[in-house]
Amino acid sequence: MYSINQEEQIIHILKESLAPDASHHIMTYGCQMNEHDSEKISWVLEQAGFKPTEDPDQADLILLNTCSIRHSAEDKVYGKLGELKHQKRKRKLTIAVCGCMMQRKESRDCVLKKFKHVDIIFGTNNIYKLPSLILEHYETGRPVLDIEENFQTEDDALLANRYYPYKSFVNIMYGCNNFCSYCIVPYTRGREVSRPSQDILREVKNLVKSGVAEITLLGQNVNSYAPALEDGYSFTNLIYDLAEIDGLKRIRFMTSHPKDISKDLLIAFRDLDPLCNFLHLPVQAGSNFILDKMNRHYHREDYMRIIDQVKSLVPDIALCTDIMVGFPEESERDFEDTLDLVRYVEYDSAFTFLYSPREGTPAAKNPNQIPKEVKQARFNRLTDTLYPIFERKNKQLIGQTMDVLVEGVSKQDKTMLTGRTESFKLTHFKGDKNLIGKILPIRIHSANSFNLEGELVDK
Ligand code: SAH
Ligand code: SF4
Ligand code: F3S
Repeated sequence: MYSINQEEQIIHILKESLAPDASHHIMTYGCQMNEHDSEKISWVLEQAGFKPTEDPDQADLILLNTCSIRHSAEDKVYGKLGELKHQKRKRKLTIAVCGCMMQRKESRDCVLKKFKHVDIIFGTNNIYKLPSLILEHYETGRPVLDIEENFQTEDDALLANRYYPYKSFVNIMYGCNNFCSYCIVPYTRGREVSRPSQDILREVKNLVKSGVAEITLLGQNVNSYAPALEDGYSFTNLIYDLAEIDGLKRIRFMTSHPKDISKDLLIAFRDLDPLCNFLHLPVQAGSNFILDKMNRHYHREDYMRIIDQVKSLVPDIALCTDIMVGFPEESERDFEDTLDLVRYVEYDSAFTFLYSPREGTPAAKNPNQIPKEVKQARFNRLTDTLYPIFERKNKQLIGQTMDVLVEGVSKQDKTMLTGRTESFKLTHFKGDKNLIGKILPIRIHSANSFNLEGELVDK
């Protein structure tokens, strides 16, 4: 229980006034940071008397946890809010909107103006206040709005209703200081704040005690982890300390920024067994001109050097990246540099995006925006280059036996289970659902660009 007396009293009042079967449903947009915030919000709501439900039609409170990263992400939320207006006409329903969009004045004003059926608005930094906002709305019957510019330590004390019992996200830092010229995150999440290492270690020990085998450390740039009052304590120190925790099988992290990645961390990949052989290192673009314009503070040569180093230290490492096409002023030549880099690195997977101008960021003001058709054509060429590389790399694994953490039943075929290898490859195999949560040896017999298929090996 988090120890904020006033909130605890409010929780008590709310619980007394709610029906015993009051429920909530959360719709999450955006990144892992938001997914984990939703797990915390769900926990806070449950404390306040709203149990989670998977069926939005049954929920007394529907909450949209929003994302601003691209225009399309915002459009999805506006579409959903339009739908909810009809639901609200039919039954008693409280609608709350939070997350990155609500930290931006433009999007917040749009919701306030166009979607008057929204009852509660809060941001990314004041989840702990949600019970008092609900109470205020219930008492006054009026819409309630509360936004905090920067991270509040109260939010750090919240527990989470974790979606999986055997793997978990763990925040190690909040916010971002990098101001890449295209990106909205520093404006929606505020400045970088690192959690004290002891808090992280305590949380992970508790998770392991409750059966968690895998953790993913979350931060916008984990390589710049630097807790106040812990002079010189780095992200690599944290990884080494976490690797000592008995029973913790797998450590992952995201995201790391190439400008801050250290040789020590690459060595940790080689030396620490629980640190998974998977590196997500967003490159964004392969042209130095564009990288400078993006304010990324590295060049393609620096990035390639990191890749060479990590491959020589950990030959079986799987590499993933984020790439954006159609950044303002990107020429055909610049784009070719991206294709060239992609072929050089030989990624195992990638998140690919069309550049989307975000109001308030420097790149959005650049008059030389790239036409939509050109962006789309480059995007298609990029994926046409990437997918055969993914396929070739996945096919190299055929015949190998790999440890897979079983995550659940396949959505397409209920007789199949799905899980992830240490290298984060999605793997399907036949098996019973009582195997979920276990780490099992799977012999790979086929592969395509996006997943592996195999069979359980008898030990
Ligand atoms: N902190 C992470 C990225 C978080 S955002 C990092 O720096 O690696 C996730 C990805 O969204 C980014 O890596 C980038 O590729 C993409 N992205 C961010 N802003 C974007 C924009 N305006 N248009 C298109 N893609 C964007
Ligand atoms: Fe955005 Fe750059 Fe920060 Fe990542 S590092 S969140 S891309 S500003
Ligand atoms: Fe994540 Fe989207 Fe916010 S990517 S940090 S939820 S803008």
